[in-house]
Amino acid sequence: EQLGGHLSTRLKGLDAALCGGIPFGVLTEVVGPAGIGKTQFCLKLSLLASLPAHYGGLDGRVIYIDVESKFSSRRMIEIGARSFPEIFHLKGMAQEMAGRILVLRPTSLSEFTESLQQIKVSLLQDQVKLLVIDSMVALVSGEHEQGAHRQHPLGWHISFIKSLAEFSRIPVVVTNQVRSQNRDESCPYSFQVQDKGKTIEDSTRYDSHLVAALGIHWAHAVTIRLVLEAKSGQRFIKVAKSPISPPLAFPFNITSSGISL
Ligand code: GTP
Repeated sequence: EQLGGHLSTRLKGLDAALCGGIPFGVLTEVVGPAGIGKTQFCLKLSLLASLPAHYGGLDGRVIYIDVESKFSSRRMIEIGARSFPEIFHLKGMAQEMAGRILVLRPTSLSEFTESLQQIKVSLLQDQVKLLVIDSMVALVSGEHEQGAHRQHPLGWHISFIKSLAEFSRIPVVVTNQVRSQNRDESCPYSFQVQDKGKTIEDSTRYDSHLVAALGIHWAHAVTIRLVLEAKSGQRFIKVAKSPISPPLAFPFNITSSGISL
């Protein structure tokens, strides 16, 4: 069985901590406050997944679920042109790379549910090497459903997405916004995930509003959690949950060539 695949992030320390990058076949969650760089990170990953293998890419297609209309192919091409000028100066290459990204913009949870079936078919047929959902919590934040539905928010979707990752053995990256850490130092990230009275993730601090919105099931379903945060004007990316890495943090910047260490 082929278990060892990774999508390199090109962030050296992070790749080393994750034994090569974002792993295939599991869910990786990228969380952080508004404007920290979650979408910029996903744009970079999309570029790297679609890049020819010769340049270290996965030479595949990408499905990008763009819930809040944040995806910008123009920005992705800028990142590509700055990071890999030798490829992007070739005629038609920028267009070819942009054409490898299928951007879906569901406007409701039910539209998203429908698109999941279509995604499953694409994953089987179309050489898709990365699935991005930016963001998961935004899919439910617009919904005000009451009663039974709220008890297991997204339970079915979460299982389905996890199974998509497992059967297609591609990296699945999901972003989620958490409230800014600066507003109240004592509250955000201090939530401990409890299950049947036991603390299951005491080393992983997780925002309580995410648990409220996505349910405990979500916290379980995620294999890798990367937390993006800012301290004293410096951005950091932290490995907050991983079966292999200790909780390491790496400083990063966002420049014209995208996320870089
Ligand atoms: P939310 O979706 O609001 O939760 O934010 P996010 O975490 O997805 O943030 P996003 O990835 O949109 O990052 C926003 C930050 O990226 C901005 O504050 C800018 O610093 C940087 N950024 C965005 N676009 C560009 C760009 O074209 N050039 C450069 N140099 N930086 C950019």
